[in-house]
Order: sequence, then C-alpha cells, then structure tokens
Amino acid sequence: MSEKVKISVLVSGGGTNLQALIDAVKSGNLPQAEIALVVSSRSDAYALKRAKLAGVATAVISETAELIKALEDSKTEYIVLAGYMKILHPDVIKKYRGRIINIHPSLIPKYCGKGFYGEHVHEAVLAGGEKITGATVHFVDEGIDTGEIILQRKVPVEEGDDAKTLAARVLETEHQMLPEAVKMLCIQERIRR
Ligand code: GRF
Repeated sequence: MSEKVKISVLVSGGGTNLQALIDAVKSGNLPQAEIALVVSSRSDAYALKRAKLAGVATAVISETAELIKALEDSKTEYIVLAGYMKILHPDVIKKYRGRIINIHPSLIPKYCGKGFYGEHVHEAVLAGGEKITGATVHFVDEGIDTGEIILQRKVPVEEGDDAKTLAARVLETEHQMLPEAVKMLCIQERIRR
C-alpha cells in the first residue's frame, strides 16, 4: 500500500461535510486519505471546532499567498471545498488544477453559479417547482460551479418542504457522496504514483 493521499479541506461554516470526511477516515471507509489541514476563511466557523476535536491541524486564512504556503507546508495533494464561501484565486486553481473539488447542493447545471449558495439554492429549487433536486461533486476551475462533474445524486423534493428541510435532506446525500468522490480520487492518485 502506498502512502495516504494528503487532503486539505477548505471551509467557512458548519462543516458537516468536513465531519463526513473525518468520520469516513476514522471509521476506515476512506483509508486512502489523510486530512492534512483544515483551512477556514472565518475564525468563527464551527467546522474549525470539528477539526480540532478530531485532532486535525487548522488554520484561519483569507490571503492567497498565505493559503498557498499553508497548502505547500502541509504537502497537500488534493483540496476539497466543503462549504467554502470564498472564490479561490486563479493562482491556487492553476497550481492545483485537477486536484480541487467542490460540493454543491443542486444538480448542476441547475441552480448553480453566482448567487446560488446556501439556502438560496434550495429556495430557488422550491420556487422553480422542482420535484427532484440533488447534489454535485465537481472539479473546480476558474468559473463558478463550472468544472467537470465527478458525481451527482438525486434527492426528492417533498410536499411541504421549505429551504431548511430540503437542505437537510440534500445534506444527508452530500455526506455520503463526498467521501465516495474523495475515495475515487485518492485511489486514482495512488495507482498513478
Ligand atoms: C453544503 O450544502 C455544500 O454543498 C455547500 O455548502 C454547504 C456546506 O455545509 N457548498 P457544511 O458546512 O458542510 O455543513
């Protein structure tokens, strides 16, 4: 078995997707990966607490040069954006092209791009009268939610849903698919080594 693939997870909020990755690594479902660093754009993100509780290194960073240095210092190979509310600088995308993924709570190309974040996505899905929504894991390029799609899963919209209940249902699916997508990338990386 070759060495584990070093992942850094970038967050800004609650960090339930980060938790799913932490849990997958801890439980042995994601034995190919090691979470080398959690970077938050906000010092008050609950995700930081989750990382600390799991004994994962953390940093609060808003500056691009500082972010690149932290990624280099931690020997990061793949970057996972999990509720990261900042747009990555093109320098970061260039350096890690094909090695950055994001999870988005809709079936891209629907309900994505500028302005479609957090509950706005689910509000728009409900306003659009959709019966099916879902989540997407995709590579990150210079656009907003425009990179190649890796994995997509459907989630039903139910009678009486509001943005909160729908977000919670979509999140359950996100927590399953993000570790799966990371696993695929790590396996591919280890085969390539
Ligand atoms: C998720 O819905 C994710 O798809 C989106 O931001 C949310 C982050 O939630 N990009 P959490 O911080 O992982 O709980």
